[in-house]
Amino acid sequence: MRQPIIAGNWKMNGSLESIRALVAGLKSGIGEVNVAEMAVCPPAAYLAEVSALVAGTDIALGGQDLSNAASGAYTGEVAGSMLNDFNCKYVIVGHSERRNIRGESDELVAEKFKAAQDAGITPILCVGELLEEREEGVTEAVCARQIDAVINAYGVAALENSIIAYEPVWAIGTGKTASPEQAQEVHAFIRAHVGKQDQAVADGLRIQYGGSMNAGNAADLLAQPDIDGGLIGGASLKAEDFLAIGRAAG
Ligand code: 13P
Repeated sequence: MRQPIIAGNWKMNGSLESIRALVAGLKSGIGEVNVAEMAVCPPAAYLAEVSALVAGTDIALGGQDLSNAASGAYTGEVAGSMLNDFNCKYVIVGHSERRNIRGESDELVAEKFKAAQDAGITPILCVGELLEEREEGVTEAVCARQIDAVINAYGVAALENSIIAYEPVWAIGTGKTASPEQAQEVHAFIRAHVGKQDQAVADGLRIQYGGSMNAGNAADLLAQPDIDGGLIGGASLKAEDFLAIGRAAG
């Protein structure tokens, strides 16, 4: 049984003051959630602060991105070892905002995936199609291509210690959630696609859904057999909304 993991991607939001209040709210309600784990991914500038605030609690910490390089002359980037210094258990790689706004290629994302694992951090590999790709009927091909970039470079076993997040780009921040059936269809495809190479890896793989997930739709999404958690943007910025998603599972 793959118990769900719910991760909050705070993106580039908040201030030191608002983030302190958010973490305080999460800490007061974390005992009532119904999932394997809740994690938060603050902006890099606040990792040290949030790391200290969640130490010793059941709230896990994640980064939003990392460098593909281990160290060196890469101004502005954050290395996996640095995330590790602040006890990051997870790091998001290949978020659609990195792929589509910052132009990250499938190959660069695969390198970041490997850099995370080399640093002992579980990568959350985001995949998903643009609206026009869904309309062209190439959703599965896009997801397969994004996953194959990792498998081709590092082998299917690399997916063993990872999470995949299916985030249809048209559902991110738009209020348009994929229906549970639409999401389940793609999640099942992803699992079958990995299963063609290694069934045991596919069976153990956690596949999170992301895209306008909230307290109102989380239960139906998480009830689907291949939806093993959520990657939450907007609804992770208010403690009560995020905790309600954690209580909606199961
Ligand atoms: P929203 O939940 O705001 O749609 O964002 C989803 C997302 O991009 C999480 O990584």
